[in-house]
Formats: sequence, C-alpha cells, structure tokens
Amino acid sequence: MVVVLGRGRGRRSSKGKNPILLFLLPSSCWPAAPSLHESDHLQCDLGKGFQHASAFNQLEGMVEQALQRTTQAGHITMRAILIRDEYGPAENLYIGEVEQPAPRAEQVLVKMIDEAFPSLQSQVKAFGLNRMDISQREGKYPPPPGASKILGVEFSGIVTELGSDVVGWKIGDEVLGLVGGGAYAEYVVAPQKNLMKKPAHLTWAEAASIPENFLTAFQALVLIGEICANDHVLVHAGASGVGIAVIQLARLYRAQTVIATTSTEEKIRRLLSIPNGATHAANYKVEDFSAVVKHITKGHGADVVIDFVAQSHFIKNLDAMAMDGRMTMLALLSGATVHSVDLSPILFKRLRIQGSTLRSRSPAYQAELISRLDKEVLPVITGENGDGSVRIYIHKVYGWNEIIEAHKEMEANKNFGKIVVEVA
Ligand SMILES: NC(=O)c1ccc[n+]([C@@H]2O[C@H](COP(=O)([O-])OP(=O)(O)OC[C@H]3O[C@@H](n4cnc5c(N)ncnc54)[C@H](OP(=O)(O)O)[C@@H]3O)[C@@H](O)[C@H]2O)c1
Repeated sequence: MVVVLGRGRGRRSSKGKNPILLFLLPSSCWPAAPSLHESDHLQCDLGKGFQHASAFNQLEGMVEQALQRTTQAGHITMRAILIRDEYGPAENLYIGEVEQPAPRAEQVLVKMIDEAFPSLQSQVKAFGLNRMDISQREGKYPPPPGASKILGVEFSGIVTELGSDVVGWKIGDEVLGLVGGGAYAEYVVAPQKNLMKKPAHLTWAEAASIPENFLTAFQALVLIGEICANDHVLVHAGASGVGIAVIQLARLYRAQTVIATTSTEEKIRRLLSIPNGATHAANYKVEDFSAVVKHITKGHGADVVIDFVAQSHFIKNLDAMAMDGRMTMLALLSGATVHSVDLSPILFKRLRIQGSTLRSRSPAYQAELISRLDKEVLPVITGENGDGSVRIYIHKVYGWNEIIEAHKEMEANKNFGKIVVEVA
C-alpha cells in the first residue's frame, strides 16, 4: 500500500468536492517517480498552506480514478476492449471495465497506459492486430487454457509490477512481448520470458508490431522450414503482416529467390520495391503460381513454402515444391478440406509438410523461440542507426477508440503489413 496525504481542512478541491485528507492506495495504482518526491514535500508542507497546488491536482485526479476503479470487493479495474454478447461482428467491440490482472510469482505486470499522470502520457503504448483476433472475436478460435479471454497476443509497454520470482526485469523497463491473450487492455500480465527489451530507437507502435509476426515467421521459416542459403522460397499471403516478415527473413537467411503471392498489382509492386523484399511475385487470382515458381527456378521448385491459404493452394503447392521440399502450414484462409488430392508428390519428392500454431506452444517452447529471435533478428529490425536489413511495415496506426474500423480494415484484406492500435 502507498499512503498519500491530500488537501487540508478548508481547501476546496478544484472540482468543488470535499477535501481529501488521506488515502491508502494499492501500490499498483502508484506511478513511478518523479511524483514520489513531490509526495514527500507535500507531507512536510501540510501545515504551511499547500504551495504544491499542481501536485495536489495530479494526486486528486489519480486518487479519484483509483477509487473509481476499485470495486466493492477491493479489486482494481482497468479498461479493455471487450466483445458485446461474447462473440460477434466488429461492431460488437467496445471499451469497457474489467478486473485488472495481477502477476503470479513468475510473471510481470505491464502497464500499457499511464493515465493517472497525464503529463507522462507521451509514452504511448500499443498492441498489434492479428487475423486470429478476428477469428476469436467471431467465436472460431478460443484462447488457450489459462490465457486471458481478452483479445490480443502482442504488445509494447512499461513494466509496472513484478511477481515475487521475477528476475532480470524491473519496474519501468520498456518491453515488447507475446501473450496467450489480454493485450487489448491497459494492463496485461505476461510470463517474464515472453518479454524482449524494447530497442530505444523503435516507437511503441513499431515495437508492438514485432512479436507475433516475427516469431511466427522465424519459427515457420528457420525452425520448421530449415531454410538454407540459396534455397528457393515461396511465401503466400505475401503482403500480410506475417508474410512481409517471412519475405525479409528469407532474404536475411540468404535465400536465392523469394517468390511471394498476393491478390493485387499494387501489393505486388510494393513487395518487389521494398528493400530486401520479394525477388519475384505472382497474383494468385490470375496466375498459376506453381507454373511461375517452376519457371523462375528453372524447374527446380520451391525448397521452402510458407502457406496460410490451405485448400485452394494445396495441390499447386505440392506441384511447386522441390525435391526434399518443406512446407509450413500456418492457417486455413481458403478452407480446410481438399476433396481429391494426388499424394504421390509427397512420396516421390520426399516432401515434409508441417502445421503449427504459435499460440498453442508450451511456455518453454515460446521462451526459447523468443530468446532466439531476440538475439538473432531483433538487432537488425530497423537497426540502431536505421540501417537494419529488416524493416517494419505498418499499414496504419489506430487509436483504440477506432478498434471497429481497425478490425474492418483487416477483414477487408486492405492492409499491406501491420495494423497497430495505440492505447489512449
Ligand atoms: N499458425 C500460426 O502460428 C500463426 C501465427 C500468426 C498468424 N497466422 C496466420 O497467418 C496469416 C497472416 O496473418 P496476419 O495477421 O499477418 O494477416 P493479415 O495481415 O490480415 O493478412 C492476411 C492476408 O491473407 C490474404 N488472404 C486472405 N484470404 C485469402 C484467401 N482465401 N486466399 C489467399 N489469400 C488470402 C489477404 O491478402 P491478399 O491480398 O494477398 O489476398 C490478406 O490480406 C493469417 O491467416 C493468420 O491466421 C498463423
């Protein structure tokens, strides 16, 4: 608990309310320095007519908000994006109040907004939008057991509270991280090993756009796809958040060609023009991408395929794959059923096909993956001097009161790269 001494007898509050004398606040309500020093002064000055009016106004605001957010059961509440009727269309999203999560022994509570002291709000925090958020909102993709039911799997923010067993993090650390759910909120609880230190040169929005996309891409391409130098790589949904990350990582890991598929000429133009983007591209709506792959690779085929589309692409994927080719399947965007398929390419080309969902992986697996991404890729994302070989492509940053529009933009497949939402 933190004790706050407030206004003295006879001084009306700025809002005309009764004077505040003493408050006991849960320590989670108490922002970090510099205000702590002011509170010391306030206590000393109590009998001298209160010369720290601005500090009192700040304290008053903070206390009122804290009291408003303390339920009768003594729980602190927070704002989060919730779903009216539990599931539904984008219009069902709204900002509501829920109980603030508390960290367990090995977890870290990350504050995503500092509203008690508006003067500190220049530190904007954010979360990334992902396709799975749409599926979860529609009731088609439940969070894993034990995860928050609130949407959102990635975020950037400031550590505000530590579980008793946490080592290596301290209050005030700026981080980005991956969670099983709960990032569409002012506060999120994350396992300590699911955090990475936010590089100082990245904005909050840029940092929030990294975890899910780059971890998925790294896992699919490097761990499962076992990319080697000079491989030919085929990446579907090339203009998606994950797709752009895969393309750039394939270039980083020295692929010979990176062939991307997407649905419009504008997306193709951009994928071919970004630094370390696709070397070739095909519009899957009007071209047979397997013929394109065979033509570009002079009959060799794709050594690694990263697929999100499933049904409509499956047979062509088998056809496009090289001997000993590896395909990672990450989603079922066009459907999950293929009615008639010739399996002989799997046998005779010795193909390996593996599916994966990052969200379902064990904490230990996720921790290991995050640790590798942190060491092997994060330093080159943008780069300290802006010369990193991997870039962040943010389609648009929304305020969280625009969450409905943000979801609709993604549903309409309009985004090139990442949609990010700032908590405000
Ligand atoms: N398994 C995992 O661990 C994992 C983790 C993260 C994401 N994912 C999956 O990865 C995919 C990309 O995620 P994201 O958040 O980056 O998505 P995103 O930015 O919303 O991009 C998805 C893109 O997929 C393409 N697409 C949609 N329906 C399609 C269809 N029927 N056929 C072909 N292309 C289609 C669209 O681009 P075009 O204009 O090119 O059609 C769309 O913009 C999603 O399916 C997501 O569920 C999987």
